[in-house]
Amino acid sequence: MNPVNLFEFEALAKDKLEKSAYDYIAGGAEDGVTLRENRQAWERIQFHPRVLVDVSKLDLKTCVLGQEISFPVILAPTALQKLSHPEGEIATARAAAAAGTIFTLSSIASCTIEEVAKVSKGPLWFQLYYSKDRQVTKDLLERAKMNNYSAICLTVDTPRLGRREQDIRNRFQLAKGVTLKNFEKYMNLKDMPAEMHGSALAAYSVTTMDPSLSWKDLDWLRSVSDLPILLKGIMTPEDALMAVGHGVDGIIVSNHGGRQLDGAPATIEVLPDIVDVVSDRTEVLVDGGIRRGTDVLKALALGAKAVLIGRPYVWGLAVDGEAGVKRVLGMLRDEFELAMTLAGATSVAEIDANLVSFKF
Ligand code: FNR
Ligand code: LAC
Repeated sequence: MNPVNLFEFEALAKDKLEKSAYDYIAGGAEDGVTLRENRQAWERIQFHPRVLVDVSKLDLKTCVLGQEISFPVILAPTALQKLSHPEGEIATARAAAAAGTIFTLSSIASCTIEEVAKVSKGPLWFQLYYSKDRQVTKDLLERAKMNNYSAICLTVDTPRLGRREQDIRNRFQLAKGVTLKNFEKYMNLKDMPAEMHGSALAAYSVTTMDPSLSWKDLDWLRSVSDLPILLKGIMTPEDALMAVGHGVDGIIVSNHGGRQLDGAPATIEVLPDIVDVVSDRTEVLVDGGIRRGTDVLKALALGAKAVLIGRPYVWGLAVDGEAGVKRVLGMLRDEFELAMTLAGATSVAEIDANLVSFKF
């Protein structure tokens, strides 16, 4: 089948991937309520298209944290991409650079900070899991800086890993040759417990995540890294205000793709209230369930500077490596361009809340 949309890439990826790998990627936490809501909420938003606008020339470019990107879609951090393709994050980074956008490398990547930086000709962000061992955290930050990553994306919704029942059922293990490459220099991963609650990742997460992380640690983070900081996983106006109060450079409204607290709302439902309280003082991005160019247009109309996608590009990676990720990004870009054309929007700058209404 030649996929004609991002959903069809998932179907193809499912055929190609080991069941436990597909389930790890596709799965949400517990009953998958937030996972489903992330998708369904986008479909409750309607457009108010304008007509008789000259849409023969469109400008899709935008700027995030001072970095120009070719269209308002950034690749979210997703762990262990070698589960999906032997080249893993290296293939993804190449595709993101070719598409003219940012790739966010996960702390729990299967390629190192250095390997990805070496191949990428595009802008890179580093997603940080704050390790219990502050020296490890500091070293990861220094490695990111030394390798020209342009921002730190601190994930704040994962003090512990969500309950991934598909992984427990599958006794999810990291496939041969797939490991937490960035942590190899800090610990003998072979000494790590083989699993916890049936999942190897849950076992690793005890070392790579710190439940004691709190707002006061942002001051320490600032003291050890001068890179711009985004907080990923903000879901309330109260925390958005706290983030701004701590001087962060951006926030990502995210519920981790429904993989953490099941019962959290869809990200697009909380975005408007967060934008209302902080968009004049920091850049607000959103992720979760974005599968269509119309979703990207809706997110921008509701105040996001740009969006991030996770699973869709991993499906592309699974289907055809770097070329697959490129096809996913190209397809989403084409859909976004068409959505702008049909809505009567000629540039990202002019997209605003008048374009949509929603019944949440
Ligand atoms: C993720 N996500 C994630 N987030 C993060 O901060 N660090 C990480 O290492 C990972 N790892 C990860 C692995 C896999 C397989 C998935 C699916 C997701 C969450 C990710 O960055 C993003 O928030 C969601 O994936 C966005 O939702 P969609 O686009 O997948 O619906
Ligand atoms: C996940 C972690 C690694 O969602 O962020 O699988």
